[in-house]
Amino acid sequence: MDIGVVGPGAMGTFMAGLLAKENEVTLLGRRDEDIERVEIVGESELSFRVNFTTRAAELNEAELVVISTKAFDTEEAVEEVASHIPSDCSVLSLQNGLKNEEIISRYVGVERTIGGITSHGVTYLEPGKVKHAGKGETVIGAYPKGRVERVKETAELLSSAGIKTEVTDNILGQIWKKVIVNSGINPVTALLEVKNGLLMEEKEVLDIVEEAVREAAEVARGYTELPVNDPFEETKKVIESTRDNRSSMLQDIDNKKRTEIDQINGAVVEKGDKTGISVPINRTLYGLVKGLEKKYL
Ligand SMILES: NC(=O)c1ccc[n+]([C@@H]2O[C@H](COP(=O)([O-])OP(=O)(O)OC[C@H]3O[C@@H](n4cnc5c(N)ncnc54)[C@H](OP(=O)(O)O)[C@@H]3O)[C@@H](O)[C@H]2O)c1
Repeated sequence: MDIGVVGPGAMGTFMAGLLAKENEVTLLGRRDEDIERVEIVGESELSFRVNFTTRAAELNEAELVVISTKAFDTEEAVEEVASHIPSDCSVLSLQNGLKNEEIISRYVGVERTIGGITSHGVTYLEPGKVKHAGKGETVIGAYPKGRVERVKETAELLSSAGIKTEVTDNILGQIWKKVIVNSGINPVTALLEVKNGLLMEEKEVLDIVEEAVREAAEVARGYTELPVNDPFEETKKVIESTRDNRSSMLQDIDNKKRTEIDQINGAVVEKGDKTGISVPINRTLYGLVKGLEKKYL
């Protein structure tokens, strides 16, 4: 299959490398880079040839495009590729944040939009080379909900590439679930500069995480059916299983990069305001991380 992967960072390089085993993969970046092969080290070890380009027009034969930019770059990336890809090409997001699929579907239509989440952990090493740091689940589904054949085929394609993928008929609920968990873990670890595990060790800190998660879940219930009964219990499970990890938001702050706070707590605040649900903890965490970013951006 002819596949385009947009965004040659950690996740994009990882996806391109795995998919290149059985497919013709073109990795699209926005800066010239010297990439002829992708090498993955760590949990998966492989090296395959990929085509690298900065010209979206080279995706004109793609049957599937995977968007792997940070969520704040989704609109620019999708706008760029939407006019070049064939009219029946599916567009899949495995990003974090609430609005990626909403943006993709605005450009290519809901019938071609595939939503997704993944908890694989990938670290960027150098152009074309990443470390697969931790395995995790991947779930995809027709956006915003339902079950269609092209999603099943895409899940089979990903699974056969080594990314074991489940299909859900409520991907919006799954995306919200991840945003809810991240709304507690990400900003608090970034503000305190601590690994995830520390959140469980200080009651006052865990109380803030709990409030953020409960607010986000209340907002979510106005938009979708949540695939989890107790989002705070779910959050604690994620904290326990990732206790030695530095969250992606903390890593972004460490590296003086823009975070995805707008697409996580910022999106909870925006959706809460729209439905009249008060989210004071999310608003506070959002403002504090924006302030932290402002110090270097
Ligand atoms: N890494 C992980 O372990 C992981 C796990 C689960 C989910 N995710 C999610 O996956 C998404 C990507 O994360 P990441 O860690 O891979 O980020 P990343 O390493 O920062 O990579 C993003 C890449 O997208 C490129 N890009 C931005 N705009 C573009 C455009 N218009 N056209 C082409 N390329 C463009 C960036 O290029 P520049 O260098 O020019 O900015 C960068 O190479 C995020 O939503 C993240 O939350 C990541």
